[in-house]
Amino acid sequence: MCGIVGYIGKREAAPLLLNGLKRLEYRGYDSAGIAVLNGEMSVLKQKGSVGNLEQLLSVSGTVMLGVTAGIAHTRWATHGDPSDRNAHPHMNVTGDIALIHNGIIENYSVLKQELSGQGYTFESDTDSEVLVHLIDRIWKGDSSLDLESAVRMALRHVEGAYGICVISSREPDRIVVARKGSPLVIGIGDGEFFIASDAAPIVEHTNKVVYLSDGEMAVVTRDHYTVKTIENVEREKLITELDFSLEKIEKGGFEHFMLKEIFEQPEVMQDVMRGRVRLNEGRVQLGGIEDYLDRLKQAKRIVICACGTSWHAGLIGEYLIEEFARIPVEVDYASEFRYRNPIVGREDVVIVISQSGETADTLAALRLAKEKGALVMGICNVVGSTIARETLCGMYTHAGPEVGVASTKAFTAQVIVLSMLALALSKGRTISHDEIALSLRELSKVPEKVSRILDLNDQIRAIAETLKDARNVLYLGRGYNFPVALEGALKLKEISYIHAEGYPAAEMKHGPIALIDEDMPVIFIATRDSTYTKVLSNIEEVRSRKGRVIAIANEGDQEISRLADHVIYIPQASGPVTPLLTVIPLQLLAYHVATLRGCNVDRPRNLAKSVTVE
Ligand code: AGP
Repeated sequence: MCGIVGYIGKREAAPLLLNGLKRLEYRGYDSAGIAVLNGEMSVLKQKGSVGNLEQLLSVSGTVMLGVTAGIAHTRWATHGDPSDRNAHPHMNVTGDIALIHNGIIENYSVLKQELSGQGYTFESDTDSEVLVHLIDRIWKGDSSLDLESAVRMALRHVEGAYGICVISSREPDRIVVARKGSPLVIGIGDGEFFIASDAAPIVEHTNKVVYLSDGEMAVVTRDHYTVKTIENVEREKLITELDFSLEKIEKGGFEHFMLKEIFEQPEVMQDVMRGRVRLNEGRVQLGGIEDYLDRLKQAKRIVICACGTSWHAGLIGEYLIEEFARIPVEVDYASEFRYRNPIVGREDVVIVISQSGETADTLAALRLAKEKGALVMGICNVVGSTIARETLCGMYTHAGPEVGVASTKAFTAQVIVLSMLALALSKGRTISHDEIALSLRELSKVPEKVSRILDLNDQIRAIAETLKDARNVLYLGRGYNFPVALEGALKLKEISYIHAEGYPAAEMKHGPIALIDEDMPVIFIATRDSTYTKVLSNIEEVRSRKGRVIAIANEGDQEISRLADHVIYIPQASGPVTPLLTVIPLQLLAYHVATLRGCNVDRPRNLAKSVTVE
């Protein structure tokens, strides 16, 4: 969850590392630190943002001038509060080894006890510090070892997840890195190398990268890198070319990444469908699953595992696949699936959905499903991510880098991928060629309809004014709009800190109606589908209890304006594509409420973009 950057080459390391940290701040931002080698080890670290570290560096960083190798870290606390002393890098007692770590050392308390018994003292409350002392103990115990071997031997004692970078003034021209469960990428420049927890800090320097796999280590020097397994077996690694530009990960004129990403959706949706939706032929072409399509169609059952927003996309996937392909679908929280001994076997297909492709629970669900013999398919946004690499087949969402912690464009891209998948699974089985062609035409009209909804931004901002002081908000929808209600509520709570709940509208009577009074805004997603009149009755029920009603309805619906305090009109569309439209005003509403409340929407408190720990 934290961000890691390393540099070794011929350029000044400190500014490069700082710049890299800024690109990774979305991964964690409660403290930051840097260590460089200038003959001796110099470390600076501080609680707070990378900006704080930058200030500290400008005051006390002269020792870091002219130095061409170092490592840096931005932290999202797991063990120990956000503070200067818990910030990374951590050092050994003699101050000649520095380490940064992403992940969790699960057996850290046993190791800590053991090391304490041997006289080691600890400066921090982190699990990570244990690792640097362990390396120190092993290296001191055998002076014939080098840093690489000491790290390798230390890792054999470690249980848990890690992405680490280690440097030592005893071997000043190398960075030793290792990965198990937490991603690490090496960027290959001209006479220089970059290391990072994802490609964002690397892309402005080089588009050539090597992704380390779990259980691999690398030694990176100024002129080469070698990759071996932790068991010391050499590995040939494929060099991958990154296909996203720096411009894509910058804000492009918008005030926040989240707003930029909301507005990018029409273009992203086109990208997701490009080459896959063949309108003329009335079919979809899904390269990533082509070889497995028959097996997918024969699935006795599909289980979708994901977390958070991706789980909401999974719920929509359930509705789509069951409606079109008539294959039974279950949707599980990955965190529950992995621990409840699920009944899954060779006849099942497990689909894991993840924007980052690194979510720890989703990855664990994937591995469990594989162990149990299921065919595992991935839907990921980040190319080359662990989930993408560990699934047998899959589809990328092609939404481009999503930086805002609140997922927006990745969600709609996931829903489009699931729509295409549902149609591919139906072909030749459950619905006719003409019906598939019609659905594809509906899907292809979505980007233009989304652009029209984005034009309502000012109206939605004005409605947000009426919500900004609310303490609770209820989101209600039915059918395809039920998962959208959940997603709208999640968006609001994660960035504005207003308590919000999503419910199937008909469930209101079974409990939440008790909450309704004049202080309770209720957001209804009331598009014209088979349950429309029933949703209207729910609106009446809320109004008669003086609740405030905001409705998302279809253009031309006059009836609803009589009942709701505010109506956001969206274009007409068929049921299965409706979520792609109804979610847009809810994303904008959450964004504006949060900014009106002065919240940092791109970096909401306590959250991180990619949850790579349990
Ligand atoms: C979305 O706005 C959230 N921040 C979060 O729920 C996210 O969707 C979840 O952590 C899953 O992430 P993933 O898609 O990268 O696996």
